[in-house]
Amino acid sequence: MKALIAVLPGDGIGPEVTAQAVRCLELVAARFGHQFELTEAPVGAAAMDLTGEPLPQATLSLARSADAVLFGAIGDPRYSDPSLEVRPEQSILGLRRELGLFANLRPVITYPAVYHASPLKAELLAGVDILVVRELTGGIYFGEKHRTETSASDLCSYTVPEIERVVRLAGSLAAARRGRLTSVDKANVLETSRLWRTVVNRVIPAEFPGVAVEHMFIDAATMHVLRRPADFDVIVTENMFGDILTDEVAMLPGSLGLCPSASVGDGRRGLYEPIHGSAPDIAGKGIANPYGTILSAALLLRHSLGLDEEAVAIESSVSQALAEDVLPADLAPRGAAYASTQAAGDAVLARLG
Ligand code: IPM
Ligand code: MN
Repeated sequence: MKALIAVLPGDGIGPEVTAQAVRCLELVAARFGHQFELTEAPVGAAAMDLTGEPLPQATLSLARSADAVLFGAIGDPRYSDPSLEVRPEQSILGLRRELGLFANLRPVITYPAVYHASPLKAELLAGVDILVVRELTGGIYFGEKHRTETSASDLCSYTVPEIERVVRLAGSLAAARRGRLTSVDKANVLETSRLWRTVVNRVIPAEFPGVAVEHMFIDAATMHVLRRPADFDVIVTENMFGDILTDEVAMLPGSLGLCPSASVGDGRRGLYEPIHGSAPDIAGKGIANPYGTILSAALLLRHSLGLDEEAVAIESSVSQALAEDVLPADLAPRGAAYASTQAAGDAVLARLG
């Protein structure tokens, strides 16, 4: 098949990890007989340096015209002051909004080879396979904001259609997995959560009768995902709760560096990025973990291009590399030798071969 893939490496370790994922996509294209046109564009602080804007029009147009977007990371210490008017983060928020990417899928599985890297005991990690579906274009992130000298407010609002579409997606994903859906909210306090719960209770039994729903408050959820992570299948939640919960859940496999994500909307187009940030402290040293970005490329193949076999080939190559102890610095035991970014990429390519 032919596909146009926009590659937005961004800042910090973004370009290093993206380069490895691009090599994997190129090898997949050669091995499976596809034509991928991979076109790069600047985003985040890198784009601010070039154009003054974190999301230049040309980058947005490329993303719009592409079948999928592969995104690295954004953020730079030079622009880390949260009160700046123009900041790198605006690029990813703008892309989500402009491309209508209303759901963020963050799958988290654990790998026996790196149980040692997890802050949790190995006995809790066996069989963990969680998919968090985070609402991505609503809630407190995008509500009206006010600021005076002495007060500030961020509005959290949701409409029924905004909740329905993400809940429906989560329901269909749960139906295709183990049939369990946990909806996370704060319905004992928040009106938006009470509306959320009503929609879940209407949509899931009617449209996905085989899916068992449970509701959980966000504070309890943050505890249960650590206490009994293997019990969870699909978790659906609003934007802010999902932001926090996914960083927590991403520690189960041992490092943020291993975790991919897919941001999707109505059509097939999506944006794929590792869930880690730009890690300026290790940028340019060639030691960043590229697996999260490589696994994001696998999600890209599956969700935007419908290439499941190719996605599985990448995923099993990463699993094999981990099983054979090709461990980047964030996963290697303290003091042990570790694989460079390039060596980890090489290991995946060799197994994709
Ligand atoms: C994420 C990030 C973003 C978010 C930031 C960079 C705006 O933390 O993708 O989870 O809060 O959504
Ligand atoms: Mn986040």
